[in-house]
Amino acid sequence: MCGIVGYAGSGSAKEMILSGLNALKYRGYDSAGIALVRKGKLLVRKESGKLEALEAKVGGAEFDAPLGIGHTRWATHGAPTRENAHPHVSFDGRVAIVHNGIIENFMELKAELAQKHGIRFVSETDSEVIAHLIALYFEDDLAEAVRKAAKRMHGAYAVAAVSADDAERIVAIRKDAPLIAGLCGEGGLLASDIPALLKYTRDVYLIENDEIVIVTKDSVQIFDEELTRLNRTKTHIDWDAVAAERGGYEHFMMKEIHEQPTGIKETLRHRVDAKKELLLDDLAFTKEELDAVDRIYIVACGTASHAGLVGKPVIEKYARIPVEVDLSSEFRYRNPIVTEHTLVLAISQSGETSDTIEAIREAKRRGAKVLSVVNVKGSSIARESDHVFYSAAGPEIAVASTKAYTTQIVSLYLIALHMGRLRGTVSAADCKKLVEALEQTPALVEKVIKDEKRIRKLAKEHYKKEKIFFVGRGADVATAQEASLKLKEITYINSFAIAAGELKHGTIALITRNVFFFAVATQSYLYEKMLSNIEEMKARKAEIVAVVKEGDKRVKEIADEVFAIPDCGDEIAPIVAVVFFQLFAYHVAKLRGRDIDQPRNLAKSVTVE
Ligand code: M6R
Repeated sequence: MCGIVGYAGSGSAKEMILSGLNALKYRGYDSAGIALVRKGKLLVRKESGKLEALEAKVGGAEFDAPLGIGHTRWATHGAPTRENAHPHVSFDGRVAIVHNGIIENFMELKAELAQKHGIRFVSETDSEVIAHLIALYFEDDLAEAVRKAAKRMHGAYAVAAVSADDAERIVAIRKDAPLIAGLCGEGGLLASDIPALLKYTRDVYLIENDEIVIVTKDSVQIFDEELTRLNRTKTHIDWDAVAAERGGYEHFMMKEIHEQPTGIKETLRHRVDAKKELLLDDLAFTKEELDAVDRIYIVACGTASHAGLVGKPVIEKYARIPVEVDLSSEFRYRNPIVTEHTLVLAISQSGETSDTIEAIREAKRRGAKVLSVVNVKGSSIARESDHVFYSAAGPEIAVASTKAYTTQIVSLYLIALHMGRLRGTVSAADCKKLVEALEQTPALVEKVIKDEKRIRKLAKEHYKKEKIFFVGRGADVATAQEASLKLKEITYINSFAIAAGELKHGTIALITRNVFFFAVATQSYLYEKMLSNIEEMKARKAEIVAVVKEGDKRVKEIADEVFAIPDCGDEIAPIVAVVFFQLFAYHVAKLRGRDIDQPRNLAKSVTVE
């Protein structure tokens, strides 16, 4: 997704900006650009493709400047070409801007700018209108011009602007797109995301909606939308910068798979006392508040929505509140029945997923309270929620989500237990039982990881397959869906997940000799049913690898191959079984020579609709 970096100071702006943009590479991008202000001149360079191409373009000393802005773009409006890359420059060459988000009324603005002012557009982007608007309002104060331009823009934006005619400062504004600023020894910094600044400062200002920020070489000043100065405090970011690097693994994805035991332990840490009672101070809701809740909607996208599917029956079991799982992109448009008695539970690793942000806004407009499970501290979803439960996966860099998923499930289980204890629907003994089982989970995940050699062998046997199906029942349907998503996003193999009981309602027509299936059978109460489904597929000559719990004797009589996860309770199995599928997808992707950490067409956080 797009990234913004700005710098004003005594160091080299191009170096600081490129270093920040490099730190944001993991989010995915398809073009990059930089605008530098040097000796009364605006120097703009942009390239499609990788950052290295841009770096090569600005290598010379003529690009040494004290101030500038940079951008990595992930194409939405218009192809990933040099023309469409940011920064965009105004018609008169005075202003350069970078933008994350979408200007919804750009067509109207474009028509107005063309007809009234004769401005010729050089890109297909919505963002270009911003540069022209600012230039039209620009007399001698860039902040005033940005303020006026923002009043004309509808949509979501984090915009940073520079001009050689107001050469000492970067002016930025945000609405519904992340923006942060900070100071380091060599100057002032601005970025769309925390990792871009981590190397230089850990104390940042989180810019709020409609705020304008002015960054100079020795100050960060924040103003409201009328340019009245605000007094804001900094937030300390306690991420370990080293944790954001690969730590010796070939890919972030592999590193993050290995970090799951730690992520789970961290998610449990400080939330359980010695007696296995919960200490969830993060969730400050009262029994009365909870008793008033008559329905929970889980809203999330992709992997996070699969965590929701695993969490749903567990919340229902322990808290005895009906739960529906909705994709955020569907929920926000389908006129959901949401009242002040609804609790919306948003799940998001990044906390910046546009569809999920809009889903919670919709829910709030309708009077619901929002609880979110988020991994990134201070992210938009965290800030807009009434209650936040942080999963403690640590920074997840690979596009394919792994440790965020397993820690989201653990978070949902803790929330389910907490709700159940508050409402009196779960006994201390049952709560303790699940807590103890969760505490065993890191060791079980570790065991699957240790079986990597076998998983790699299995990947070798099957990596040339062009189609792979995944089936399961109960919580194993969610595991099948997550397994299928992991496989398709990083290997590009056509894959498909379905509840095994649904096969006979249509999909079974696809089963012929050697059609390849993973059958997940970890849920004891559905075991017999799953066995029949496996028989059903085998009778049609499908090739089947079954994923079961250790000790299983019957599946191996039917399936072609069996992978056993360590024996564990049904509720724990989804957290353990998915690790097998993460590793399988990883090794298949590697054998196929894929770009594992940055698969094509994908970005780490989807901040556009
Ligand atoms: O940051 P979020 O959890 O809100 O992201 C939601 C999805 O975009 C994300 O889970 C996506 O499906 C994964 N990258 C897939 O591995």
